Order: sequence, then C-alpha cells, then structure tokens
Amino acid sequence: MNATTTSSAPTKSSLAAAGDNRTHTPANPTPVPAADSPAARSDQLLAAMVAFRDGDFTARLPLDWAGLDRRMAEAFNQAISHQERIANELTRLSGPAGPPGQPTPPLAVPGALGGWAGAVDSINTLLAERVRPATEVASAVGAAAQRTTPKLSILKRLRPETSEQHAGLEQKMTVMDPHLSRADYRALIEGFFGYYAPLEARLSASPVWAELAFDFAARRKIPRLEKDLRALGWTAEELTRLPRCAALPELATLPQVLGCLYVIEGATLGGQVITRHLLATHGITPETGGAFFAGYGAETGPQWQAFGTMITAAAERLGGENEIVASANRTFQTLNRWLFPQAVR
Ligand code: HEM
Repeated sequence: MNATTTSSAPTKSSLAAAGDNRTHTPANPTPVPAADSPAARSDQLLAAMVAFRDGDFTARLPLDWAGLDRRMAEAFNQAISHQERIANELTRLSGPAGPPGQPTPPLAVPGALGGWAGAVDSINTLLAERVRPATEVASAVGAAAQRTTPKLSILKRLRPETSEQHAGLEQKMTVMDPHLSRADYRALIEGFFGYYAPLEARLSASPVWAELAFDFAARRKIPRLEKDLRALGWTAEELTRLPRCAALPELATLPQVLGCLYVIEGATLGGQVITRHLLATHGITPETGGAFFAGYGAETGPQWQAFGTMITAAAERLGGENEIVASANRTFQTLNRWLFPQAVR
C-alpha cells in the first residue's frame, strides 16, 4: 500500500459508497458522511487504527487532510511505518544468515525515537552477534551444553522406555477397584510376596553392593509383605509354604541389578496412590494389611531421590544404559507373568 491508501478494513462510508446491499434499509438510515467531512475522516482514522491493532502495518492515512487532521495522520503514519519496518527486519533476521563472518546490514529506522529507537538498538545488537565467527559460537554453545546436560540421565530413559510394561501391569492390577474383595487383596499381596521373596534373596546375595553406595538391606520389602500377610490372617508357618516365583530376571551384572532396582523402588511411588485408595475405600492401614503399598510413607520422595542420584551416578560412571533398560523391562515382564499367568501370553 502506498502512503495515501487506507486500510482494507471496510468503513461505513466505503460500504455505502460501494452500494453494499447485504442489510435491509433501516427506517431511519444513518446519514452517509460526505467524502471529505469530519465524520468520513473519523471513519478512516478508526479503520486505520483497527488495522494497526490487528497487525496490518500497511495501513496509512491520507496526507492531503488539513490542519490538526493532517498532523494526526502524519503521526499515525510514522508510528505504523516504524512498526512495519521493524516487523520486516525481524522477518529478514529470522531467515538464513549471510556468509560466515560477513556483517548483516544494521537495521535503520529513520526518525525512530524513544522506545522505537531502543527496539532498533536491540535488534542491531543481535545482528552484531551474527558476525562472530561460527566456530567461536559453536564452541561456546558446546561448552555450555556440556556444563548443563552432559548426557541424557538414565532415569529420563527408563520412564518412557518401560512405560508400556508399567501400563500393562497397572491395567491388570485390581487393587484400585472399589469392589475389590478382601480375598482378592490377600491374593495380590501373596503374589507380591511370592515374587519379592526370591528376588530379594538373590539381590541380597549379589556381589554388586560393594561397588554401590546403596543400603539395599534397609530397603527390602519382604518384612512389610510378611507383616501384611500376618495381618490378613496367615501364620508364620503358612508363609513358608506360599509359592515362589522361579522365573526371575537375570541379575548377574551391575546394570541388570540397577534395572531391577528401578522397578521395585519406583513401585513405591505408585504405592502412595494405592495406599490412599486402600485407606479411603477399604479402611486398610499399614497396620491392617497395607504396609507394602505404604512403602517408605512420608520418606518415599527422599528415598526415590536418593535412589535416582545413585542410579544416575552409577550409569554415568559405569555405562551399560541399554542393559539397565532391558533389565527393567524384564523385571516388569517376569512380575507380570507371575502375578497374572492366565492373562500374559
Ligand atoms: C495399580 C497399580 C499401580 C499404579 C496405580 C501405579 C501408579 C504409579 C504412579 C502414579 C507413578 C508415578 C508417581 C510419581 O511420578 O510421583 C508410578 C511410578 C512408577 N511405578 Fe507404578 N503403579 C502401579 C503399579 C506398579 C507396579 C506393580 C510396579 C512395579 C513393581 C510399578 C513401578 C513403577 C515405577 C518403576 C515407577 C517410576 C516411574 C518413573 O518415574 O521413572 N508400578 N506408578
């Protein structure tokens, strides 16, 4: 648009002049302003301001007006043309840079004052950054990246890469069912006991603890599972006769142990949701059969964080991330098969 065209937004007068017939003729039609009347100029001013507001920076007011109207038109046109210039420059800047080392021409907005001039200066500072040698920028970015994100933490991999297994298991567990019977709940705790008892025995016997700063003995879940089963009616002697899982994940290497630990430690997080549900729906407390799901209670968050610090440091120091993830998936699978032998192919 040139300096004397108005916005494309239709005005009352332009619609009337074009013989717009989309509406019926009102009983008392609004008088059509004469082409150069104050009302017509107000219409044009409003249309141009609306265009500006809506991001059309090409709108301009006519400069053949007289007196105060002319000065208003000039001021408006200058403001919108600054904005148009800046918008165009930003579009240019967001495009590809020129050849390395070649300065990009600075932005010039003649007559820009105050905040406009400040915006121009800021853009020119950004332009100057562009001429810094590419290698300097690349090495600065590389160094910053190394300082902040040395590597994708193993926990950031484990969650998404085991989520399918988690969802499969969670879906089959009826523990969140409001109609869960006491017999169903006891069978579930028996199932966890039958899996954790041999698993924890094998983990306890593993030689890896010498290499890890982790008190596995203090985290064993079997004492809580035994407590629950006793609260649910089993004698100590009967517990020794409960079936135990033989198809456990392989735990020969340190990454395999870490992957398995991830699953059994992570389960304490979901346990917090379950424990609230057990109390609210069935009145089960840690004293009356809910100790396993209650896990570390208020200490669950800090315990999970401590585990996270340990596994992250171990994976960074010793590697084996793929093996950790594979072992976590294998732990989920074997538990799933043990708890739901009918449902798992
Ligand atoms: C109905 C059963 C279950 C529910 C409702 C459940 C729910 C949850 C929830 C809500 C979290 C996220 C907690 C948080 O971000 O603060 C979580 C995390 C987790 N759950 Fe479960 N869970 C269930 C069963 C299990 C079981 C049986 C295991 C394994 C034995 C398990 C292993 C995990 C793991 C490893 C995480 C940690 C994920 C991560 O942040 O990397 N969950 N669970």
